[in-house]
Amino acid sequence: MDVVEFGPMTDEYRHALEGDEFDPFDVAGVTLHFRAKERHVGLRDASGQLVASTGMVLTDVDVDGERFPVVGLGGVIVSATHRGRGLGRRVVEEALATAQRLGPRFAILFCHEDRAGLYRKLGFVEIPDDVWVQQPVGHAPMTQRTMWISLHGPSTWPPGEVIVRSLPF
Ligand SMILES: CC(C)(COP(=O)(O)OP(=O)(O)OC[C@H]1O[C@@H](n2cnc3c(N)ncnc32)[C@H](O)[C@@H]1OP(=O)(O)O)[C@@H](O)C(=O)NCCC(=O)NCCS
Repeated sequence: MDVVEFGPMTDEYRHALEGDEFDPFDVAGVTLHFRAKERHVGLRDASGQLVASTGMVLTDVDVDGERFPVVGLGGVIVSATHRGRGLGRRVVEEALATAQRLGPRFAILFCHEDRAGLYRKLGFVEIPDDVWVQQPVGHAPMTQRTMWISLHGPSTWPPGEVIVRSLPF
């Protein structure tokens, strides 16, 4: 597999990754507004087809009143025919390597509980405190799990209420 980096998700890439799959991210019924990711890391197979991708954004968070930047990961997907072969792990690891070069101390992501096992295996830890995310009007409680990982050596996510200063990703 070749690792590729690209900017925003395009219709062509989305089709390569999702095909005709209905609601791969299980967002039907989710009322929160999410934002597009500015950059992506993907995996291409030998024929050049994009088969896995992870999106990234930069944003600020306030934790217990203290503001700092984080890399937000989202849109992790492996095309349905390629799942279960380690590509989800690989594409997130490649995205974390890119995230390390972006500067912030931590990366965070949001996920449904039934996907959290993948991220726990990669070293992500759940934030137990309340998490609020920006919405078109005001802020709303995050209804999915929020998980963090240190990008630069041993650091621990600080305790306290989290306010994400952007739409979720
Ligand atoms: C979630 C997804 C990215 C996993 O990709 P994948 O290529 O099948 O995952 P991998 O084969 O790399 O799995 C890596 C490890 O995570 C585990 N894992 C994978 N999906 C998991 C899940 N949903 N729950 C718990 N563990 C999971 C695997 O068992 C494997 O464990 P191992 O290393 O001990 O063998 C893929 O199923 C997908 O694209 N789903 C649709 C989109 C989606 O739900 N994205 C996540 C949004 S939060």
